[in-house]
Amino acid sequence: MTDAMVSEIAQREAASLLPTYSRQQVEFVTGEGPWLVDAQGRRYLDFLSGLSVTALGHAHPEVAEAVATQARRLVHVSNLYYTAGQVELAERLKDLLGWPDGRAFFANSGAEANEAAIKLARRHGLAQRDGKVNVVSLEGSFHGRLLGPLLLTGNPAKHVPFQPLGEWVTHVPFDDPAALEAAVDEDTCAVWVEVVQGEGGVRPVPEAVLRAARAACDRVGALLVADEVQTGIGRLGAWFGWQTTGSRGAQDALEPDVVCLAKGLAGGLPIGAILAHGEAARAFRPGDHATTFGGGPVICAAALAVLGIIERDGLVDAAAKWGAALAESLDELIATHDLAAGRRGLGLLQALVLAEPLAAEVTAAALAEGLVVNNVVPDAVRLAPPLTIGRAEVDEAITRLSRALAHVANTIQTKEGASR
Ligand SMILES: Cc1ncc(COP(=O)(O)O)c(C=O)c1O
Repeated sequence: MTDAMVSEIAQREAASLLPTYSRQQVEFVTGEGPWLVDAQGRRYLDFLSGLSVTALGHAHPEVAEAVATQARRLVHVSNLYYTAGQVELAERLKDLLGWPDGRAFFANSGAEANEAAIKLARRHGLAQRDGKVNVVSLEGSFHGRLLGPLLLTGNPAKHVPFQPLGEWVTHVPFDDPAALEAAVDEDTCAVWVEVVQGEGGVRPVPEAVLRAARAACDRVGALLVADEVQTGIGRLGAWFGWQTTGSRGAQDALEPDVVCLAKGLAGGLPIGAILAHGEAARAFRPGDHATTFGGGPVICAAALAVLGIIERDGLVDAAAKWGAALAESLDELIATHDLAAGRRGLGLLQALVLAEPLAAEVTAAALAEGLVVNNVVPDAVRLAPPLTIGRAEVDEAITRLSRALAHVANTIQTKEGASR
């Protein structure tokens, strides 16, 4: 896009939208697979997938066909009536989770999935005793922007403009099993974890903390809730992030009571879901929760198509394989660029950690090189490509990222030289 086009849309947006977003200086108009195209026809390699959303890349023909076919047949019915696709999607997810006694609720976003899980956990707690409504969550976590998920989110700066939010959440360091153990008591109805903290900077939560969470929940009869909004549906190289625990794939993987899903589940259309099993699956009663759009026919058709393609094309294993290749290539970047200091993540959710808080500059330079990534925290750049990538895309992304790092390093050097 030309600067003039970007500034025109920026001005119109400023006059018409509430100012909640800071935009990168580009408007994408079409996409195909891992590529995005702007209004001028310039192509960008998408190594962000929305924000870990478009698991199959853009405009997947089979998903488009499933959506179009369902849209021509029936777009919406109220949840007053049965929807076959909703049941089928629940059955598929139960199978993938290995939870024959599992039960699903479908919402419209990750935050809504977390909100539903909060209400489920409260129902579970209050059935045991009055006051059992408290939740323990991790510092650095992110669970969404609705008021309940916002309070769970372990980032106090995000709470400040909206206080008071209530006092039912205790945050503990994300890497301290003893602190978590100590925070859980008889008034705790749930402990909330991500296996890898996505928005918190792509930080894997130590398995000892996840194990402490499971043990503490078992001790007091609380629910372990895994927020897999970002880590689920293959992104970490397993269908669900928690399946990477237990010495990575062994029999003793750490099982939560509830999982929250969204992002990748419908490949880019808005969906949220919780799945609960065991006692957690029995907490809700009719009328306890509802949504107008959740689990509608079109979104379920899209999600079923996405799951079918991931399974048929072996994309979970592919995510593990190309995640390892991406990690290796990032390690090579670290060896060759002073600005690249480290790497963290799992599967196709990776972060390049910088020696200085220049992630915004690197992200902008990458965009100029035709590579979409994001500055997830000031000193780390997130890479979350579609599960469909292969060797060619990994190599191309690394070439472009390498040029972006070199550009930022040169700019800094030039500035430092000038100020001396
Ligand atoms: C782990 C996690 N939970 C919840 C959310 C919120 O999802 P949404 O933006 O769809 O409400 C996100 C979004 O980034 C997330 O990463």
